[in-house]
Amino acid sequence: MPGVSAARAAQALDNGFLADVLDGLSRPRKSLPCKYFYDREGSALFDAICTLDEYYPTRTETALLHDRAAEIAGLAGPGATLVELGSGSSVKVRILLDALDDPAMYVPVDISREHLVAAAARLAGDYPAVTVVPVAADYVRGFALPRGVRPERTVVFFPGSTIGNFRPAEALTFLRGLGQRLGVGARLLIGVDLRKDRRILEAAYNDAAGVTAAFNMNLLARINRELSGTFDLTRFAHRAHYDAVRGRIEMHLESLVPQTVRVAGRPFRFAAGETIHTENSYKYSIGGFRRMAARAGWATERSWTDADGLFSLHWMVWRG
Ligand code: AVI
Repeated sequence: MPGVSAARAAQALDNGFLADVLDGLSRPRKSLPCKYFYDREGSALFDAICTLDEYYPTRTETALLHDRAAEIAGLAGPGATLVELGSGSSVKVRILLDALDDPAMYVPVDISREHLVAAAARLAGDYPAVTVVPVAADYVRGFALPRGVRPERTVVFFPGSTIGNFRPAEALTFLRGLGQRLGVGARLLIGVDLRKDRRILEAAYNDAAGVTAAFNMNLLARINRELSGTFDLTRFAHRAHYDAVRGRIEMHLESLVPQTVRVAGRPFRFAAGETIHTENSYKYSIGGFRRMAARAGWATERSWTDADGLFSLHWMVWRG
């Protein structure tokens, strides 16, 4: 791998990035797992997306959390342990920590170690009474909770509609596995984006400032940085559209010309117009999501939505 330091190459092999990229680009319909968006640059771009006018999910979910914080605190009870999946900058959880009755522990779980550690340190400084235990892990593959965390005291916080980035069958398997790992009585507070007018959805993933495009393109830049990729970013373009039948936004990177790109020395041929499918973002109805979660073993006790029906929050209990 010319140009790649031994340490970086070893890290890439360790975390599966190289293997997943070679596999994804070898398929007849090229694809890359969306979890690789979130290196340092990608995480910063995602934070920028969350502040965009067009990207309604963040502000709508944040407002819902503020509106329902007291009710959520009542449901969580005193001394709760909050486990956040894909914690990123740990911004929204502050709304809960401010409202909860004497929260005992906060366990942010995130794949992006640097981002995680920095965010956890900031949070620990601001909430000295809360024990902060960051866990750097791909939470989809499983993660170890600190010892002694009791299921009926645990609240898993999974905001942002990240569940929408799973295919529905994978979402069901993931939610079932999560419940099994946590135990009977564990609670889940989950944010889920709702189906709506295509114009609102497509604007959210094609913002005028081009931040989502930069976020998508960063995946190619990351491959160049870490895997000796030769992607010419001027020869690819960001594409996002809503598939109303499947109820999902699809993001792609489209090759603008016929070209060959190398990754770790391996050539990959692209036709003009051929795409790499980089992300699905599924949108649910409230009933549809609750039914899927029920099949996975989670009973919904409350569902909340905003006045415009853009986004939903659900409080669920694991019944097994
Ligand atoms: C993290 N996830 C829920 C975001 C979404 O909306 O699917 C990722 C994203 N992709 C483009 N913009 C935001």
